[in-house]
Amino acid sequence: MVSSLRGGAGCLRRGRIPDGAPARALAPPRARALNLLGFAGIAYRALGPALAHLDPEAAHRLAIAGLRRAPLPPAAPDDPILATTLWGRDFPNALGLAAGFDKHGEAPDACLALGFGHVEIGGVTPRPQPGNPRPRVFRLAEDRAVINRYGLNSDGLTVVAARLARRTRRGLVGANLGKNKDSLDEVADYVAGMRALGPHVDFAVINVSSPNTPGLRDLQGRVAMAGIVRAVAAARDATEPRPALLVKLAPDLDDAALADAAEVALECRLDGLVMGNTTVARPASLRSSARSETGGLSGAPLLAFSTGKLRDLYRLTGGRVPLVGCGGVASGADAYAKIRAGASLVQLYTALVYEGPGLVPRIKRELAALLRRDGFRSVAEAVGADHG
Ligand SMILES: Cc1cc2nc3c(=O)[nH]c(=O)nc-3n(C[C@H](O)[C@H](O)[C@H](O)COP(=O)(O)O)c2cc1C
Repeated sequence: MVSSLRGGAGCLRRGRIPDGAPARALAPPRARALNLLGFAGIAYRALGPALAHLDPEAAHRLAIAGLRRAPLPPAAPDDPILATTLWGRDFPNALGLAAGFDKHGEAPDACLALGFGHVEIGGVTPRPQPGNPRPRVFRLAEDRAVINRYGLNSDGLTVVAARLARRTRRGLVGANLGKNKDSLDEVADYVAGMRALGPHVDFAVINVSSPNTPGLRDLQGRVAMAGIVRAVAAARDATEPRPALLVKLAPDLDDAALADAAEVALECRLDGLVMGNTTVARPASLRSSARSETGGLSGAPLLAFSTGKLRDLYRLTGGRVPLVGCGGVASGADAYAKIRAGASLVQLYTALVYEGPGLVPRIKRELAALLRRDGFRSVAEAVGADHG
């Protein structure tokens, strides 16, 4: 879906991510790789009218296929001020690609080559499942937002684990663990996810916050969450090499639920919390015609809301649980705000749809400048700076 979603022509014209295979023959390697992602004016001129009508999900599939096949050279080395160490791993920079883009673990290394410091693949469910009927992704261009109701469509653990096993494990990769829609035992589902994917990743994220699987978000309740975390942590402790274990939360949690989640994280010694997933809220500011579609809203309208919840979570955990800030990041200033609010790492997805991969080096440049402006020597020094 890193693609035109809705309104592909405008998206292409501004250099967004869609496909564009015809550009391949015309461009040198680096440009060719980017063109395959849909950055080429050439591709737009050749295919524009067709892409404008391309189903957004089909366009996303083409973008992933392009990423898989294009021999992307590694991204340029990062400014050392952006480097950070967490869970015994050295992240070259603090900006990662959020779950949902590479759902099936098809192209983690190509995504890393865009300049991300880490990539979270998934969500992956134990058994393959189709997800919800199409259409299930909607582009809210006027709002720089997306609504999706994929419903955790997944190739399943066996297929995804085999893909990850074939990697040579250079860059840092995490896995987002889901549960099957018809599962009667969610604890067993998340444990299976850890057993299958844990050995192949640097961190695993228990996803109890996607709004598109009935009942899933109830698992954020204190008792349910603690039960899942304890079982998955035990499976993780038996995993070699040992990945970090995180839980991804919804920004829609109220104060009491957020306090419960923070307590479980501290009690169970979680390695981290991700704040957060998409929201079921619909801010009154939304202008796009697709604003009433059912699903999770992501992108710009989520930024202030999710950064506020991240700030609360940092306060509630006393800064003792590393946080991953995700939701609406589209600039270095947005990433910096998440870090100052308490994030040790930052992730994004939706802005990539609108800005294209040039966004990644731009955010890193801007973030490095902001850190230096305020006298920080590293990302770690700035984490939680707003809390005094
Ligand atoms: C199309 C789409 C699919 C997503 N799929 C997942 C998923 O499978 N698991 C998950 O935890 N989050 C998923 N997300 C949520 C993102 O990882 C992220 O938390 C959310 O979009 C907020 O970040 P953003 O505003 O930068 O997109 C998805 C988001 C989008 C737009």
